[in-house]
Amino acid sequence: MDVAEAVRTRRARRAISERPVEDDKIEALIEAARLSASCFNNQPWRIVLCKGQEALAKAKETLSKGNVWATKAPLILIVSAKPPDDCQLSDKRDYFLFSTGLAIGQLELRATELGLLAHPIAGYDPLKAKAIFGIPEENVVITCVIVGYPGTDDSLLSDKQKEAEKVRPERKPVGDNFFLDRWGNPYH
Ligand SMILES: Cc1cc2nc3c(=O)[nH]c(=O)nc-3n(C[C@H](O)[C@H](O)[C@H](O)COP(=O)(O)O)c2cc1C
Repeated sequence: MDVAEAVRTRRARRAISERPVEDDKIEALIEAARLSASCFNNQPWRIVLCKGQEALAKAKETLSKGNVWATKAPLILIVSAKPPDDCQLSDKRDYFLFSTGLAIGQLELRATELGLLAHPIAGYDPLKAKAIFGIPEENVVITCVIVGYPGTDDSLLSDKQKEAEKVRPERKPVGDNFFLDRWGNPYH
């Protein structure tokens, strides 16, 4: 699979199989994130990989109701970082979230190539996650990434989520976000 195809086919799907993810694939996901760019090569991300039954069960306790579909996952990544671990530059440029997002973006594409889902979520209790996994207070738990093979059982999905599985959620027109030569001038 080339990058263009990975970009095209990556989806935040929710029907997930309980089939375990092989260790070599987990290593490949780690490597994809490790090789990501970061400001000054600071690599601010700190990721707890929950794959043991106890850790997984605890990670699932932090999920919000709308993410009950993720309770099937055989692997959950608790992704955190803290501001001083990355560049802090003028005009509020704290790069820790950006660098960590890039790393997870690469991980998502690699997962797609490996036939895996890697679905980032914001619906969890970050304070609970910190307490359970011993994540330092000053870290921000930025996302949990739900990882596993795509499944066929969608019984844990709401009707709205089932609908969203069918077609890719629509994107804004290019001109809303991309400007030509000057702010606000739609690129096309
Ligand atoms: C930061 C972030 C938080 C998200 N939180 C959730 C979430 O809590 N639950 C969920 O089901 N999907 C979540 N998603 C997935 C998005 O809903 C999904 O990426 C978006 O609708 C676009 O769909 P697509 O990724 O399949 O193209 C999240 C995605 C991102 C990047």
